[in-house]
Amino acid sequence: MRLVEHDDAMDLLSGRVYHAAEGFLHHLLDEVPYITRQDGDLVSAWKRAPDAPFSPDAVPVFWVRNIWLEPFLLEFDSISDAARALRAIQRNWAPCPVHYARRTLLIADRLPHIPDRPRTFPFVLPTAPMGAFTLLDEHTLMGSARCSSPFPNGAFAFAENRDEPPSRAYRKLWEALVLAGTMPQPGARCLDAGASPGGWTWVLASLGAEVLAVDRAPLDPRIAAMPGVRTLKHDAFTLRPEDIGPVDWLCSDVICYPEALWRWVERWLASGLARNFICTIKMQGKTYDRATTLRFAAVPGSRVVHLWHNRHELTWIRLQDGNGAG
Ligand SMILES: C[S@@+](CC[C@H](N)C(=O)[O-])C[C@H]1O[C@@H](n2cnc3c(N)ncnc32)[C@H](O)[C@@H]1O
Repeated sequence: MRLVEHDDAMDLLSGRVYHAAEGFLHHLLDEVPYITRQDGDLVSAWKRAPDAPFSPDAVPVFWVRNIWLEPFLLEFDSISDAARALRAIQRNWAPCPVHYARRTLLIADRLPHIPDRPRTFPFVLPTAPMGAFTLLDEHTLMGSARCSSPFPNGAFAFAENRDEPPSRAYRKLWEALVLAGTMPQPGARCLDAGASPGGWTWVLASLGAEVLAVDRAPLDPRIAAMPGVRTLKHDAFTLRPEDIGPVDWLCSDVICYPEALWRWVERWLASGLARNFICTIKMQGKTYDRATTLRFAAVPGSRVVHLWHNRHELTWIRLQDGNGAG
């Protein structure tokens, strides 16, 4: 990347800037091994290029809403200079105001508008690069043209369905499926563990899948009556894979210790009876079970993410074709 008009004032950095998932900066600070600076929710792990090599990706980091993949520093004189320099790189830039917030937004005002209308599920992830920038002081901008999320500061906005699903948890499954880049086809066999009151089952049944909804609590009767839905009032973890048989999608939103979920998932992995997995790893109390999270992340072809719609939980996605990254 080269800033045509400003290459002498621009410093490419080696490393990353992590934008913490909202409310979970404390977990991110525990994860990032070499923090070189912190600006609000932006945690930097970078060095100036001559000091490379520097490989922050060697340590997995999960509690992020966005990762700035190619950070740079830009010295600039005026607001219009800064905006011109960013526009010379690409169209889309999300402001991330921390210091000099008003000045940051004044720069953003001089950049092309970023569409922010909520999207209707299902949709394909945008491919246009989405950059991000902030100001470190009045004349120094830190930015990155490449980020892990195609949405401004990781914000994933759906046009919500406020009438049909019985809980708002359905948005997590929508988001996970959009990230996966694939979804259950009509007739696909799905197991929804911890299904009550039925938001995830509603998503799966709406796609035409056959859903076995397992929970100790009852499903909303409207969801239980949807075509293709069967309910089973049971402890999901005492059901063995052989009891259920082959499934195309194993979904779990069970409230439990991460270790209990892992022990159950391990059995399914060993059985070879589940093709795709989407499971929320729910942290208990204020704790973060990083050791178990790393076990999930180490499953080949899988990924662990903090979804925009996740709270104190992470989501493990494993697809049969091995492309957990979607
Ligand atoms: C967060 S809620 C699930 C919400 C659901 N995914 C939705 O979209 O509406 C968690 C559910 O896990 C269930 N649960 C907890 N332990 C369970 C277990 N061992 N087996 C089955 N369900 C369990 C609870 O009864 C609760 O309904």
